Amino acid sequence: MHQGATPMSDCSVQDLTIRDAVVADVPALCALRGARAPHEAKLAETAAGTARFLVEVLGGDIVAFAGGRHRQPVTGPPKPHLPKLSDCFVAPQYRSPGSSRALVSARERIAHAAGCELLSVSVDPIESPRWLDFFRGRGYRTLQPAPYRKGELRYADDGKSEEVLVWRQDLVVNPRKIEPA
Ligand SMILES: CC(C)(COP(=O)(O)OP(=O)(O)OC[C@H]1O[C@@H](n2cnc3c(N)ncnc32)[C@H](O)[C@@H]1OP(=O)(O)O)[C@@H](O)C(=O)NCCC(=O)NCCS
Repeated sequence: MHQGATPMSDCSVQDLTIRDAVVADVPALCALRGARAPHEAKLAETAAGTARFLVEVLGGDIVAFAGGRHRQPVTGPPKPHLPKLSDCFVAPQYRSPGSSRALVSARERIAHAAGCELLSVSVDPIESPRWLDFFRGRGYRTLQPAPYRKGELRYADDGKSEEVLVWRQDLVVNPRKIEPA
């Protein structure tokens, strides 16, 4: 992202466009959130046809990204609850006026258009209770009565990774039944 990008306070959500990420976006994605490996892994999944990787653009700059998996990964352990929204990140200075809402809606529309009857998302209800409430408000229902613990790989900006224990709660919705935002 360029230092001179238009501040979100001078823009509205209508100024944001959403498109699929491409390999040439990797430097901008790393400027947004450090490590290269997760971005490249998501682009590889996109190329394999198992996932989508969307970026949100404002005035030519990438200000947010979000993933979505609709098929099992080519490598690694199988994933439960597919199709699934994943890893939504908005640059701090572009948060709040609907940046992530637009990305979530875009991924829900993709699932709807693909004829999916269930779409899931996994949320940290301890760290991000607002994010959990956001999905509940859109009609998602929680699958577990209480949060559970899970090991997850976290990447530092220098590319080093470590497994950390996180809280999770899974939610599902029928994409055809989501009220338009
Ligand atoms: C969570 C996050 C994606 C929200 O982006 P945003 O552009 O501020 O979101 P929007 O303005 O589109 O608002 C959509 C919803 O996001 C949620 N939200 C907004 N800020 C949030 C925050 N700081 N923490 C948790 N949820 C937040 C709210 O539920 C909001 O809906 P509401 O306004 O009806 O309450 C953003 O704060 C972010 O990138 N955080 C770091 C990464 C992260 O935690 N991602 C989510 C887990 S994968």
